Amino acid sequence: MNNKTKEHWNDIYNTGEVSILGWYEEKPTPCLRLLGKCDVDKDEPILDVGAGASTFIDSLLNKKFTNIIAVDISEIALNKLQERLGKEKASKVKWIIDDVTYPKHINKLEDIAVWHDRAVLHFLLEEEQIQTYFSILKQVVRKGGYVIIATFSIKGARKCSGLNVKNYDSNMLAEYLVEEFHLIDAFDYTYRMPSGDVRPYIYTLFQREN
Ligand SMILES: C[S@@+](CC[C@H](N)C(=O)[O-])C[C@H]1O[C@@H](n2cnc3c(N)ncnc32)[C@H](O)[C@@H]1O
Repeated sequence: MNNKTKEHWNDIYNTGEVSILGWYEEKPTPCLRLLGKCDVDKDEPILDVGAGASTFIDSLLNKKFTNIIAVDISEIALNKLQERLGKEKASKVKWIIDDVTYPKHINKLEDIAVWHDRAVLHFLLEEEQIQTYFSILKQVVRKGGYVIIATFSIKGARKCSGLNVKNYDSNMLAEYLVEEFHLIDAFDYTYRMPSGDVRPYIYTLFQREN
């Protein structure tokens, strides 16, 4: 676990309302659009990597998915999400505190039907961290399973939440997944922050070969 990273994100989630964070979405429409293209059963495992306090989890519960796993380095973020959901809904989600760059738990998961990451990968700056991320992904996603990754695009901001980011296009993401996965969909999306500023993202959906 990288304690500096953990402290950074705990501080961020401790300082304010989730709904004013620069990545908050009332409804995670673009990811839901990609999820709609995934042929998965409601009881298959869906992993939200770096879930934070995202409303994607609320949407999965509303859609009656029953095997939801939320992972984040920040326990404060996950606590906030649990509070918003309330006890009953929160009890339907598996909660894991882990660092995707020093995995202790998520690398033990298996048969993941959907790997979902919005705005997490772009914070990994060192090639070794990125390689670790993709190697866990390849380890845990089942054959025929799906990968949704949304990151700041090449046209996007160079920083978020005080941290430098790495910007991507769909070809760059595809290079990490080449041979074992194929690209199903990719689109640019301009996210409007609660402050009114805009952040260009690239959204991608890959599927693992059978
Ligand atoms: C910009 S937020 C996005 C949160 C959420 N995916 C969303 O769309 O609202 C980035 C999230 O990634 C988490 N995170 C950052 N680095 C991480 C790491 N190495 N391992 C696990 N989670 C991490 C942070 O705690 C934070 O919740």
